[in-house]
Amino acid sequence: MTFNKKPLPGGVGVEVTGLEVSDAMSSTTVAALRELWLEAGIVLFRGLGTSPEVLLQLSRCFGELEPHPIEHFRLPGYPELILLSNEKGLTGPVYAFDGVPTYGRIPWHTDLAFATTPNAGALLRMVKKSAHGGQTGWLDTAMAWEALDEQTKARIEGLEAKYIFCADLSGMRFNRQAGELLQASSKNLPSFPPVAHPLVWVHPQTGQRILNVSTLNIQCILGMPERESDALIQQLIEHTLQPQFQYIHDWEENDIVLWDNRRTMHMAFGHPVDEVRVVQRSTIRGTVKMGRIIEEEQQQEETA
Ligand SMILES: [Fe+2]
Repeated sequence: MTFNKKPLPGGVGVEVTGLEVSDAMSSTTVAALRELWLEAGIVLFRGLGTSPEVLLQLSRCFGELEPHPIEHFRLPGYPELILLSNEKGLTGPVYAFDGVPTYGRIPWHTDLAFATTPNAGALLRMVKKSAHGGQTGWLDTAMAWEALDEQTKARIEGLEAKYIFCADLSGMRFNRQAGELLQASSKNLPSFPPVAHPLVWVHPQTGQRILNVSTLNIQCILGMPERESDALIQQLIEHTLQPQFQYIHDWEENDIVLWDNRRTMHMAFGHPVDEVRVVQRSTIRGTVKMGRIIEEEQQQEETA
């Protein structure tokens, strides 16, 4: 074995140590890493040093990388890496949670849940951690599907839900946290049409069934009366957010976490706005279309 692995506390995800990352990693090591990614869904790497090259070399083991479409977000000199930092000003919204002006809070979601082809995964590396807060949570949605009762599994199979792009918490219909908006996002964000995705995804590589309830984006179940749809989504979200499906990571600098975006949700807890936090991130491009854009006629039918 070219690296060691052990389950993370709580049993969701694994930790890898003893891995040597370089451009010359053997095909056996790369294959073992890919297998672990699909098997565990969430992989924590520690002790891999501080260079952006290491993050890139490790990221490329899992597929083709997706540069951020907006140049402003790219790490200078590394187009495939994203730099998220509040060191030189704020771009995202600021909320007051429990009286603390908080930056970087993003509720449980799947990346690109509002797109037809979500990305396959991502890697996040802590460069500078904030003195307080700043944790990131991951949640295994395959485990959540598995734990549903048979009746619910049968009821939701084949249903489709509508997902929208949300620039801040105000567009959320479910599980919205009571944070007061102190400062809106200064990002000039494009708009996206709503999409329909199966409520139960079948993972394109493992065949696992996955409960697809990205809380930031989900709006309703198509073709179901609103009351029934709201009650079912609420029930599924409460089920999915149970602590036994979660891993909450307290970062050390230079930790890297890799996740399978098709099989997990994640959440950024945010940190006090006056504390600096810097992370780098890469995105593994999605290759399989999981949803479709909802045509306008259908939206009109839906609201009729
Ligand atoms: Fe995300």
